[in-house]
Amino acid sequence: MQWTLLGAGALGCVIAGLLRQQDESVALMLSERHRGHFHPLYELINLNGRSELINTQACFAEQARAVECLLVVTKAYQVVPALSALTGLSAHTPIILLHNGLGVAEQVATLFPDNPLLAGICSHGAMKEADWKIRHTGKGETWLGGVNEAGKKWAHLVEPLARALGHAQWSDHIEIQQRRKLAINAVINPLTAYHNIANGELLTSRFDEVLTQLSEEVHQVIAQLDGPDAESLPAFRRRLQQVLELTATNYSSMQQDVAHGRPTENDYISGYVVAHAGQIPIPVTLQLYQAIQRLEP
Ligand code: PAF
Repeated sequence: MQWTLLGAGALGCVIAGLLRQQDESVALMLSERHRGHFHPLYELINLNGRSELINTQACFAEQARAVECLLVVTKAYQVVPALSALTGLSAHTPIILLHNGLGVAEQVATLFPDNPLLAGICSHGAMKEADWKIRHTGKGETWLGGVNEAGKKWAHLVEPLARALGHAQWSDHIEIQQRRKLAINAVINPLTAYHNIANGELLTSRFDEVLTQLSEEVHQVIAQLDGPDAESLPAFRRRLQQVLELTATNYSSMQQDVAHGRPTENDYISGYVVAHAGQIPIPVTLQLYQAIQRLEP
């Protein structure tokens, strides 16, 4: 089976590269701006610092009918426009959504009601150093789960992914895993983007107060959605601390987006918390949400 990745950003290129290193067949579905000048090779700097040229097959929207398995690794706000262009996609092709944030799968399910739909989270670190030069900056976990009944029949996809990515597991409650990732993103991403700092800076004492407040707000909203499955506040704070330590030298995806003048996933991360807060007061989340909105192009 061939994997087709929709979205040739930093994370997409790392996943494609790791799949290719296991001899998996990989195609990159590219946007119009790459037509004509796309070079099918790109440079991947592995975790050990060694560079490798990755060879994938390039394809475009009109070849959608031939896609066997679609991994969507675009930014959250690009998912629906990018998928809408794939009018020829077979109803049998599984669609796997791996973007940050939440609120997109519902729209995809409406666009492609018959396709097996899966969602997942992937916490590998990736950074674009130049055009077609990508650095794998950190090993992470990958979790997949079914969004609709047809999607739940594709659990076997985790096997080749686990071989390539080092870890991949199936979850029967992927929405809980996604909300747990979103909770981490809703703390780290807007703070690092607003202050233009690496993740590890948030471990310094000047951020103690805002981290305490923000993590409490985000935890309350997510716990309300998770109900009896909610993690405790101390467990969430321990997880947050771990991610900050493990990714201390990394720049968050939102920091990178703001620094490069690109749109951000603010609406799908902090915006999701704002939209689901109900009666819970979230002054810090709201302030950061609006501050990032003002920084967007
Ligand atoms: O979005 C990101 O950058 C990452 O999910 C995380 C965990 C914040 C690390 O940088």
